[in-house]
Amino acid sequence: MELIRQVNKASIASGGQLLAEGNLVAFPTETVYGLGANAKDGRAVAKIFAAKNRPIFNPLIIHLSDQGEAYKHAVLNSSAKALADAFWPGPLTLVLPRHPRCEISSLASAGLDTVALRVPASAAARQLITAARKPIAAPSANLSGRLSPTRAQHVANQLKKQVSLILDGGSCDIGLESTVVDVSTNIPVILRPGGLTSEAIAQVIGRKLLHNTGSNTEIKSPGMLVNHYAPSLALRINAQKPRPGEVFLGFGKDAVNADLNLSPTGDLLEAAANLFAYLHRLDSMPAKGIAVMPIPTETIGWAINDRLERAACR
Ligand code: TXA
Ligand code: MG
Repeated sequence: MELIRQVNKASIASGGQLLAEGNLVAFPTETVYGLGANAKDGRAVAKIFAAKNRPIFNPLIIHLSDQGEAYKHAVLNSSAKALADAFWPGPLTLVLPRHPRCEISSLASAGLDTVALRVPASAAARQLITAARKPIAAPSANLSGRLSPTRAQHVANQLKKQVSLILDGGSCDIGLESTVVDVSTNIPVILRPGGLTSEAIAQVIGRKLLHNTGSNTEIKSPGMLVNHYAPSLALRINAQKPRPGEVFLGFGKDAVNADLNLSPTGDLLEAAANLFAYLHRLDSMPAKGIAVMPIPTETIGWAINDRLERAACR
């Protein structure tokens, strides 16, 4: 059977069955492509860590077909409920206390007493989860530390030997991972900036959000490793122009001699959607490095800069 299959009724049904039988299936979401496994099956979850070469202290996000499922696995306080009501399905992950009868594999949450849940907006993703009849653990479908995938082909380039099926739903609308918010305590904290802005979240909970960017980030969200999302080429950020041998990733109307422009009109949402795909393209060019123009830090620009800073750190 073909490794990459277009999203349709038949491919979703096969994907659901493969997942239920303990295999890995890559699938599109509105943020990035996920590498899915049945979250209740410890052996299947272990395959994710092996395939990605992911450190086992880095917990996974559990994907659900609808909000009602969340109450089986976790305890939601009033902030958690308000955020779920406002933003699910969508690019928001909630870190919550595990329900006493939670059946999610403890490996999936790296032995923590919390569990990270998300209901993706992508219809294909939710149909797949429904077909599997299981909660689906899914990190981004890339090798650990490398660029995230926003196209089916990106997944195939890194993980074709490790997955049973890649569902192709075209390019991801948002292009950046979900925003991870810890609501397991009284004061919500953003652990990872992402597709949903902190302004939108603050509006719903009626207060400014704390950002966990300090030294305790590693403990709270072990996945926020400083060096992450990295292309193979060296990456230099906040560059006004390229140095000899560098390819140049621009932003906005001033980027006249850029090799690629994240958004010629300076639209941050467009830039987010293009970010990983353009880095994949530049990374395959015969160059010494990638230079990236400054990107404004407002709204989703904060998450774009977060990814670029980690990609540049080596
Ligand atoms: O958009 C997304 O979130 C994508 C798609 C596939 O849904 N998934 C994704 O997964 O980005 P991953 O594994 O690349 O990132 C998961 C993040 C990590 O930073 C991890 O540390 C954090 O979520 N996380 C997961 N469970 C956690 C927990 N119990 N406590 C704190 N952080 C947690
Ligand atoms: Mg990732």
